[in-house]
Amino acid sequence: MNALEQTNEIKVLISAQEIQKKVWEIAEKLNEKYGTNEELTLICVLSGSVIFFSDLVRCLKMPTKLEFIKVSSYENSLTTGIIKEVLFNLPNLKEKDIVIVEDIVDTGITAKYLIDRITKDFHPKSLCFVSLFDKKCTRKIDVHPDIYGFDIGNKFIVGYGLDYDGYYRNLPYIGYIE
Ligand code: IMP
Ligand code: MG
Repeated sequence: MNALEQTNEIKVLISAQEIQKKVWEIAEKLNEKYGTNEELTLICVLSGSVIFFSDLVRCLKMPTKLEFIKVSSYENSLTTGIIKEVLFNLPNLKEKDIVIVEDIVDTGITAKYLIDRITKDFHPKSLCFVSLFDKKCTRKIDVHPDIYGFDIGNKFIVGYGLDYDGYYRNLPYIGYIE
C-alpha cells in the first residue's frame, strides 16, 4: 500500500478548530513576552512548519521580520540522526530577538542543532524555540521547546504542514496513521 492509498486509514487526532485555538494561544504568549514595540525575527523551519508559521505570524502584534531555513534529518518515518542544511541563508541576526518556529520536536536532534548553530553564529539578544507539537516520550537529546502547543505522545502524525513521504501536508487537521 502506498502513501496515498493510506489516506482512508488516517484518523483525526486534532481538529482544525482545536489547532487554530492553540495557535492563537501561542501567539498570545509571544505577544505578552515581547510586547508590541520591539522587532522580532521569526525563523520558519521548512517545510513542516510552513502552515503553522503563516497562521502564527498573522496573530503577532509587534514588528516582525520573517526568515526561512530548511534542514532535513528524516527518511520517511525513520530518523537518520544526521542534519543536512538544505537551505540556510540568514542575514546577520546579532543583537536580535529570535524565535525559531518548528512543527514538531521528536528526538530533539534538529532542535539542538538549530539552537546551537544560531547561538554560535549570531549570539542573539534572545532566542526562543517554539514548536506546535512535542513528542516528549521519544526524546533522545535533553532539549525542550520554550513554548509548545500539544504533547502528542509516540504517534506519527500528518497534516497541517506535517508529512509522510511528502504527502498530507495540506490536510487542515492533524491525523495519524495507525
Ligand atoms: P527530530 O530531529 O527527531 O526532533 O525531528 C524533527 C523533525 O522530524 C520534525 O521537524 C519533522 O519534520 C519530523 N517529524 C518528527 N515526528 C514527526 C511526525 O510524527 N510526523 C511528521 N514529521 C515528523
Ligand atoms: Mg520540522
